Amino acid sequence: MNRKFETNNKGHLTLGGIDAVDLAKEYGTPLYVMEEDTILSAMREYKASIDRFYDGNGLICFASKAFSCKEIYRIAMREGLGTDVVSGGELYTALSVGFPADKICFHGNNKSDSELEFALKSGVGRIVLDNAEELERMSKIAERLGVKAPVMIRIKPGVDAHTHSFVMTGQIDSKFGFALETGEAMDIVKKVIDTPNVIYKGLHCHIGSQIHELLPFVETAKIMMNFMAEVKKETGVETNDLNLGGGFGITYTDEDKRIEYPAYMEAVSETIHERAEELGIKLPFILMEPGRSIVGEAGTTLYTIGAVKNIPNVRTYVSVDGGMFDNPRYILYGSKYDFLLANKANEPAENKVTVAGKCCESGDLLGENVPLGNAECGDICAVFSTGAYNFSMSSNYNRNVIPPVVFVKDGKARVVVKKQTYEDLVRNDV
Ligand code: LLP
Repeated sequence: MNRKFETNNKGHLTLGGIDAVDLAKEYGTPLYVMEEDTILSAMREYKASIDRFYDGNGLICFASKAFSCKEIYRIAMREGLGTDVVSGGELYTALSVGFPADKICFHGNNKSDSELEFALKSGVGRIVLDNAEELERMSKIAERLGVKAPVMIRIKPGVDAHTHSFVMTGQIDSKFGFALETGEAMDIVKKVIDTPNVIYKGLHCHIGSQIHELLPFVETAKIMMNFMAEVKKETGVETNDLNLGGGFGITYTDEDKRIEYPAYMEAVSETIHERAEELGIKLPFILMEPGRSIVGEAGTTLYTIGAVKNIPNVRTYVSVDGGMFDNPRYILYGSKYDFLLANKANEPAENKVTVAGKCCESGDLLGENVPLGNAECGDICAVFSTGAYNFSMSSNYNRNVIPPVVFVKDGKARVVVKKQTYEDLVRNDV
């Protein structure tokens, strides 16, 4: 593992200047630890890249499906970011801390009437339209509320982003958005322009997630600019906003060759400037929706090892006190992570083991064939880059409680999401 991490004089892993073993003792395990400086620097890098490469004519909207809780919306708000929400619940959480509604993009391929009404009543800045039925419903709800619905249209640019098929969304066979090649995209743009109580704000696309290449983003920007020119030609209407989605990759293991985040904006900005001039259309206001790349590398999950089962000539199972209920990404996508014994951080990782969760399910693993030191009962096992799509995808499977989230910075820790209790588990049972 080439990953760089900090240790103290006890040979323990430190996170945000704090001994990880002490964090585990104080808050219990499993524990989600988030290094706040990593989040802040990613947010600032993205924001600065819009200023530097696109004259500040854009907005970074943190894709909160990656990690949603009150504190992350407070931080995004303070840093001048917008946010992308994908459910009434995420919208509610953002608004509950005073997130400016005009900086919120509301997504979803099947928003309910009550979610649409909630978004319209709250003054959400952009609602991303995903299907024709939604347009009808939105227009009626907007009329009843006496408001105009600000609509962006989700387009499938048809770009293959070379990523895991479960997280690929820009190609024609996707439940999200309208396809260009069948003509449905142009049809819906015309319909939006003609629909009462609806304002055509612009176009949205998102080509996938955990992408480590610039080219798919550049291609997508080209395709979208060409389509904006066609829209102008056919309808006479200029497109104000262009949302290029998220999907920028992070480092999970040595296999990931991640690109510095500003490089995406630089490449895309160049293409957009070129295309705008060539096509005679105005420069759009750009939105980008990074999720994973803002919070992913900030997160480390700490577990306590409870059992080490060596099956000769088969494998060694190292069981931890978490699993698919706090991190379902291995069982869902076969995602790879770096593991480390936090209390033996400087010892060589000479063994190849299977790290198993505690759920009543054989597939509940966190990694197979992973290098680890000499694991013993009571050791603290750290899993890196768990800040995105771990807490937000956690569940109460087997009635396990969802672990707390602790933010660490400059040697101080604070709880931002409390540990669930057994009472929480039965709260809604009747
Ligand atoms: N915008 C839209 C419309 C999206 O659908 C997504 C992610 C994003 C932005 C943020 O993408 P990011 O920058 O985080 O890659 N649960 C999966 C990832 C699902 C991504 C869904 N959409 C995982 O754990 O890998």
